[in-house]
Amino acid sequence: MTDGPASPRGPRERPLPIREERLAAIGRRRRAPRTERNPLRAGLRLERMPDPVAIVLFGATGDLAHRKVLPALYQLWRSALLPLDVRIVAMGRRPYDDSTFRQEIRVALDAHARVQPVDEETWRTFAERVEYLRGDLDADATYDELAARLEASDRDHGTRGNRLFYLATPASAFAPVVQQLGRVGLDREVSGGGWRRIVIEKPFGRDLESAKRLNREVAKVFREAQVYRIDHYLGKETVRNLLVFRFANLIFEPLWNRRYVDHVQITVAESIGVERRGAFYEETGATRDILQNHLLQLLALVAMEPPATFDANALRDEKVKVLRAVVPLADADVARDVVRGQYAAGWVEGEPVAGYREEEGVDPLSETETFVAARLGIDDWRWAGVPFYLRTGKRLPKRATEIAIVFREVPHALFRGSRSDPEPDLLALRIQPDEGILLRFGAKVPGLDVDVRAVNMDFGYGTSFSVDSPDAYETLMLDALLGDQSLFTRADEVEEAWRIVRPIVDAWVAGPPPEFPDYAAGSWGPAAADAVPGRDGRRWRRI
Ligand code: BG6
Repeated sequence: MTDGPASPRGPRERPLPIREERLAAIGRRRRAPRTERNPLRAGLRLERMPDPVAIVLFGATGDLAHRKVLPALYQLWRSALLPLDVRIVAMGRRPYDDSTFRQEIRVALDAHARVQPVDEETWRTFAERVEYLRGDLDADATYDELAARLEASDRDHGTRGNRLFYLATPASAFAPVVQQLGRVGLDREVSGGGWRRIVIEKPFGRDLESAKRLNREVAKVFREAQVYRIDHYLGKETVRNLLVFRFANLIFEPLWNRRYVDHVQITVAESIGVERRGAFYEETGATRDILQNHLLQLLALVAMEPPATFDANALRDEKVKVLRAVVPLADADVARDVVRGQYAAGWVEGEPVAGYREEEGVDPLSETETFVAARLGIDDWRWAGVPFYLRTGKRLPKRATEIAIVFREVPHALFRGSRSDPEPDLLALRIQPDEGILLRFGAKVPGLDVDVRAVNMDFGYGTSFSVDSPDAYETLMLDALLGDQSLFTRADEVEEAWRIVRPIVDAWVAGPPPEFPDYAAGSWGPAAADAVPGRDGRRWRRI
């Protein structure tokens, strides 16, 4: 193995110095002192490179692999963040050979690689490391063949027994694949024989029971320390920055509690519809697709206590603690505080679009929700009495993910009469797009009288940093290769999130059918959603 990824230093150079590569790649501008640890990487030193490894990608011909996983691997290779001795074994049912599969990835990279155009020399060296293994995921023979291939990879390509299994398949295949890996002993770590890890995509279960069942099946084969459950929101730069923002700065921490915070709003708005995922979405809906995972993860990061260390388990312990403190919803709470919706035809970003029931793969009488808004409470010392309003939907007017911390009014409103605009102070963390942080406060309008109006202080990633952010999948893939579980969800965490969501989905199954569709594509969801904060005398922020 003599060649390496193309880099500014030349294609055949060993990808060192690692620290500079990593710092450049993860977008940090200042040099870290030698002793600095990356606090979001469980104390691993930045100097560490992933070990030689065979990455086994299940579902390699699927959409997720093409759009996200393979482009992330290519980008890591391009940034010299994969070891030279890396092998990617792509598993799929389609009748490809290495060469036809490589052609297919090339097409995917031309469409989805973060840095365009695809560099020819980097592509050549990357493609050489990719092989295709055709097989039925239910068949024993597939795994026998896989085990043989991996031995050959250790022998011929120096992968040293290290294996990362990546499940990018439909969820129904997760448990069977795990069982098969166990059957052929591919999970087993023997001293000096390399490590074995498994990355599992979402959805992790479709309710509390199935998530527990899947956790049990996985635990029969892999130890928790080997399991990396993906919620790709945790890999987003701005989400990682939430921890930095909260715990690397002193000024906001004293305000981050019920004494000063009136309420919190978390919005994950999408302008896209269900695209070609109608059949998947029919079984999922907005609550399972986004609320149970991305939204609750954002809530956990906003509301958790500072962990004592940034060890993966210390961090996840705090997230689990705050999820446990989320007040369980009774049926009456669901009826009052949770609103679902489904889009009808309408206009989004100037284009006419079909209603959900007209989408490919969707039942024309579908009762699946494409929008959900909920009010949650957290019963702990920091947050008791502070509502958290969460909402997500497809075919909303724009793509925008934002966390808004809305502050209380001053205790004695000296200027009440003179506020021409009575907006409360607010901190908005813009997760995407237009990533940044906005602080809104009242200022005196210049003039002889006293008029107070809200003004903004705005930090934008794009203007403050001149580097591109890595894609969430690059960050997460690198972390899995480095053995850092901080940005992956633990078994108990996934179950807590399902516990929160369970009463919602149960109440809907038991209750009368919804009157869908109830919002036009391109609007901010059903009118009833306004009542979620409205009942408390509050309103959704206009984003
Ligand atoms: C996925 C959901 O987890 O997240 C999709 O299954 C959704 O329905 C997507 O579109 C949103 O991710 P992002 O990174 O575009 O905000």
